[in-house]
Amino acid sequence: MLKKKFSCVKVDQQKDGITWVIFNRPEKRNAMSPTFHVEMVEILDHLETDPDTKLVILTGAGVSFSAGQDLKEFFRETQDREDLKSVAYKNSMWRSDKLWMYNKPTISMVNGFCIGGAFTQCICTDFAIAADDAIFGLSEVNWGILPGGMVSKMVTDLLSQRDAMFYACTGRTFTGKEAAKMGMVNLSVPKKNLRRETLKLARELLEKNPNVLRGTKHAIRATQDMSWRAAADYLAAKGAEIKQRDEARGHDAYAEGIRQFIDEKAYRPVFSPYVGAADGKTTAKGGKPRPSAASKKKAKPKRAAKRK
Ligand code: COA
Repeated sequence: MLKKKFSCVKVDQQKDGITWVIFNRPEKRNAMSPTFHVEMVEILDHLETDPDTKLVILTGAGVSFSAGQDLKEFFRETQDREDLKSVAYKNSMWRSDKLWMYNKPTISMVNGFCIGGAFTQCICTDFAIAADDAIFGLSEVNWGILPGGMVSKMVTDLLSQRDAMFYACTGRTFTGKEAAKMGMVNLSVPKKNLRRETLKLARELLEKNPNVLRGTKHAIRATQDMSWRAAADYLAAKGAEIKQRDEARGHDAYAEGIRQFIDEKAYRPVFSPYVGAADGKTTAKGGKPRPSAASKKKAKPKRAAKRK
């Protein structure tokens, strides 16, 4: 549990393993100052190994997710100080380097303005859900720089060339709804449902085997720029790592998942994870017998339990 208080970020740890990391400079639309970055590094480092945190949600206080780098504190106040500039820049890398391969699932809940450098954390979290009326924009062209720090590269990788070029060169904004259509976020929802939908996704992820989930998200990231040969080797090694991590908690996901489906008929992998995937507390007998997926009516569990 993280007890420390921070000046630019609020951390709200829930009992169910979900930790909210809330950018908390609403009066500055959550613009990212050097201090903000120092705090984010410390928070994410801590949460990554914190046993009470299973999943991290990033969001912003007030009307903004984040208005990007702080033009005054991050840019102007460091421009003539190479030492300060390089430290600030290095600390700001939590958004890409740390989040990209973070060991726990991460979600951006984009509640409002998501501008410039804030694209980085939005893109580098594993999932992103936006309010329909959230406002995205690459404002850099309007105030005198290109979308730097990696933003140009990230939008080019994620969006179509047409969209990346259009929004980077015009600085025009787009809504959460448009962001979902373009693949910038997974989905957008009316603001009143934003928290509920985000928690729904978070809870769904928390039902999975955490070692399998971690290996999977790393695999999706890492294989992106590998050759087929390298990817095949990487995936085989990741599979072995998952097995090893699971063994450390007295569990074998692979064997258990198959056994519960084939022998116990306790669940269907197409619709849900096996019983006890999340906490590893599965019983030797698996879980409750499953009802038939084909049955239109609600099947009585006992009669539908065994497949012939
Ligand atoms: N850096 C520094 N300060 C910022 C900021 C940023 N990126 N974004 C907002 N602020 C500050 C404003 O200077 C203002 O501070 P003040 O009250 O001391 O004057 C305060 O936040 C509120 O900003 P304001 O423009 O009045 O709010 P708004 O709700 O009308 O508009 C934005 C919000 C985000 C549309 C607008 O502030 C804006 O265009 N910000 C610049 C974002 C940007 O270009 N970021 C790219 C960085 S790479």
